[in-house]
Amino acid sequence: MQKEATKKNERVVEVFDLFVKHIQSFFDEAKLNHEEYTNFVNWADRLGKTGELPLFADVFLETHVLRSMYTETPGTQPSLLGPYFIEGSPLIEAEADQPFVLTQRPDEAGEILYFKGNVSSVDGHPLSNVKVEMWHNDTDATYSAFDSVAPRYNLRGHFYTDENGDFVVKTIKPTPYPIPTNGPTGEFLEYAEMHPMRPAHLHLMFEAEGHETLITQVFPDDDEWLENDVADGVRLDLLTKFEDKGEYLEASLNFVMRKK
Ligand code: DHB
Ligand code: FE
Repeated sequence: MQKEATKKNERVVEVFDLFVKHIQSFFDEAKLNHEEYTNFVNWADRLGKTGELPLFADVFLETHVLRSMYTETPGTQPSLLGPYFIEGSPLIEAEADQPFVLTQRPDEAGEILYFKGNVSSVDGHPLSNVKVEMWHNDTDATYSAFDSVAPRYNLRGHFYTDENGDFVVKTIKPTPYPIPTNGPTGEFLEYAEMHPMRPAHLHLMFEAEGHETLITQVFPDDDEWLENDVADGVRLDLLTKFEDKGEYLEASLNFVMRKK
């Protein structure tokens, strides 16, 4: 039987050749013997079978890709998308001058947080009607739809900036997050005697016409894990004070989007 004609993809060939070449030189440099090679393949197999491949890749590689893309260019620094984003979060609406309220359980534990943001373009104009997607973990440090008992879209939602590019969202303070330690990613951390912690963070994704989608995170500036985030996602311009207002916390940050 004749092989079906496939469309040659030059970019795939280029990248795949480099991938194989560099894995081979990694084996050379690490002087992997055959037994170690087999252990490596088995470990990679477990990484895939446990569903931890995105976790491992995001912890150890995603920041590297982001840094090489953006560090030199103006605009808010992106940070990790991470493995815990899911599509289909609820649209959150609010009366004028009222905060958006992120989806949460009626008895959601945690300190109430009002987070205020402004979104503008690198040219200085405020951006109205920007789609803001937000997700974060709960006080058990778990993400809905993954390691949590909460409903699928708990502490997830999207809303739009107002005519001045502003938004205010009411939620709870996120919690420092230990990446799972009982699988092949954690096993790796154990050998390296690395802790599994990420500082507390809000995940945000901004989509605006004519602009590059901005995927980033916001961190309380007093978190104990800021300086040694296991996934290296912290950037100085993503830190902000979570100010104690008695009944609640208040934090804010401005975001600047790059043009396409
Ligand atoms: C990773 C990113 C996160 O935001 C998180 O909460 C956990 C893990 C990661 O990069 O794998
Ligand atoms: Fe996260």
